[in-house]
Amino acid sequence: MTAQATDPSIHTPAGSPHFHFKGGVLHAEGVSLQKLGQALGTPLYVYSRAALATAFNSYKEAIGTRDVLVCFGMKANSNLAVLKEFARLGSGFDIVSGGELARVLAAGANPAKVVFSGVGKQVWEMQAALNAGVKCFNVESIPELKRLSAVATEMGKSAAVSLRVNPDVDAKTHPYISTGLKENKFGIAIEEASAAYALAASLPGIAVVGVDCHIGSQITEVEPYLDALDKLLKLIDELKVQGIVLKHLDIGGGLGIKYDDETPLAPRVLLDKVFAQLEARGYASLQLVMEPGRSLVGNAGVMLTTVQYLKHTEARNFAIVDAAMNDLMRPALYEAWHGVLPVVPNSGANAPASTLYDVVGPVCESADWLARGRQMALNEGDIIAIESAGAYGFVMAGNYNSRTRPAEVMVDGDKYHVIRQRETFEDLIRGESCLP
Ligand code: LLP
Repeated sequence: MTAQATDPSIHTPAGSPHFHFKGGVLHAEGVSLQKLGQALGTPLYVYSRAALATAFNSYKEAIGTRDVLVCFGMKANSNLAVLKEFARLGSGFDIVSGGELARVLAAGANPAKVVFSGVGKQVWEMQAALNAGVKCFNVESIPELKRLSAVATEMGKSAAVSLRVNPDVDAKTHPYISTGLKENKFGIAIEEASAAYALAASLPGIAVVGVDCHIGSQITEVEPYLDALDKLLKLIDELKVQGIVLKHLDIGGGLGIKYDDETPLAPRVLLDKVFAQLEARGYASLQLVMEPGRSLVGNAGVMLTTVQYLKHTEARNFAIVDAAMNDLMRPALYEAWHGVLPVVPNSGANAPASTLYDVVGPVCESADWLARGRQMALNEGDIIAIESAGAYGFVMAGNYNSRTRPAEVMVDGDKYHVIRQRETFEDLIRGESCLP
């Protein structure tokens, strides 16, 4: 892994141009992250509104005039302000729970642009989605299909269905975030898909409308997508012979971002190839659906944290900060790499010695680290930014060690808005009661 340079003149944040150094201080758009951290306290998630728009527009521009619905994989970041922003930009949403549906509705988004994924949909969630009028259910198993048929029939409704097919392709990503292989719990095996469609077409309360797949996350190569697309198109050919005609094809999410030295797959590169394949196979008129999560928000956010102690031991040097694995779980869970930037890098004659640090939190677990082996000149009290924290950051945060979850802030030009208050101790114990 690369050592982190501390000189802002030679280091560009891995993230987006919307996080940049100005006068020796890291800014989000026009707002100093030093001032923000001091004003609101840390740990603190900070998002850039312009970065969200830039990311969404990179899809829009790649789409041009084609019939493509982008459904933000909102599990990556489900703050209402973020959802509202994407809804305003024209996005639909990929949801995986009744809770996410409730958020989409609370954000005032259009349920007709919502696809409902997930392997464990419960009856109440199906009912809520049918009542809301979602675009379709991405059905992941035969038992789910049967249950949905029963629920819809009882409600006197018809459920639009796309079967999530598992194309058995290797997305070449971390095993925990790869989902398109045979051994994964997701989707219906491609070999069984055609029989599953025949069943779906025969069931009451079900209207077959599409096919989908999602092969994994943080994908940086185009081939896995094209392999999956090829398999899905062959299936669509087969279905046509059976008299089952689909309206849309959903290729899922998964486009990677730059955390370190990755070269992300640009939406345009993927889409140009996908459109070419659709045209070559005679499916240019099929609506395309996509479910990007990480690539829309990942580099639109950082997490600020303050150095509490510098602890030098024989084996390692630790920068003990006020954020922990409960605030950003990715390093502990996936050994994920996130860039670390002192918000005001120390330099000059009085600067502390540049040292190789492990950035760790206060939680009582050895897995509680945020970054390892980073070369930095730090003082206690310094605020540092953990980069690329906009996706799967706050949403995966918890309260382990009775730690309150961080606040979230959206920067917009030279203004900022608190879009989620920091939790309080009262929030932590709400709902708990002692024995009589
Ligand atoms: N659609 C479905 C059905 C999904 O399961 C996912 C992500 C997405 C779309 C969005 O994928 P994306 O574009 O964000 O790659 N917590 C992990 C990532 C888990 C991804 C789960 N599914 C991480 O922090 O890396």
